[in-house]
Amino acid sequence: MVGFSRRDSRLASPLLNILAISGSLRAASTNSALTVALAQNAPTGCRVAAYDGLGRLPIFNPDDEGERTPPEASVLIDAVTSADGVIVSCPEYAHGVPGGLKNAIDWLVSRDAAVAKPAMLVHASPRSLFARAALAEIMRTMSFALYEEAALEIALLGKKPPEVEKILAEPANRLAMRSAISAFADFIRSR
Ligand SMILES: Cc1cc2nc3c(=O)[nH]c(=O)nc-3n(C[C@H](O)[C@H](O)[C@H](O)COP(=O)(O)O)c2cc1C
Repeated sequence: MVGFSRRDSRLASPLLNILAISGSLRAASTNSALTVALAQNAPTGCRVAAYDGLGRLPIFNPDDEGERTPPEASVLIDAVTSADGVIVSCPEYAHGVPGGLKNAIDWLVSRDAAVAKPAMLVHASPRSLFARAALAEIMRTMSFALYEEAALEIALLGKKPPEVEKILAEPANRLAMRSAISAFADFIRSR
């Protein structure tokens, strides 16, 4: 379960809670590995939690909103609502956004969770240009405040878990992850 308490306004520079969502359900997913690595490499002042409930979400149905909202959907909605920002790392399937991630996003549409919520896309593949554009369009349409200045891209496409782990542990990539989160944190704080 992922959830954050609200920012403590008594602190000069409050801890930022960031939710990282992978759009892949594969056990050996490179996008999920990237979200976990982001959690492990969060800079001081930021806490990144990797969301792991994508595969448990029922298929979105507008009839199941309000009092009928399924518990797993409520967990996601609460996690997004309580986060200061959201990071998404998503593969491309057939030039589109995978159904699992689109389904998760659809659960957020008819409520306030996404409205003005800072969000950043990161990439585990140097390809997936159609999905990147489609996802950005979907998230802008939902009124996420999309941070589009710098994109973190670590080429993990086609790599097996041991190699993925090795790449993500490289000092240059750890620095790139920390820098990307720091830049996103500045964006969140500037709002
Ligand atoms: C069904 C399917 C369709 C795919 N379609 C595309 C595609 O259109 N463009 C692309 O760049 N990669 C495509 N890929 C490759 C995935 O996007 C790529 O392997 C991705 O890195 C997998 O992410 P993951 O390791 O997090 O599961 C496809 C993969 C699958 C399984």
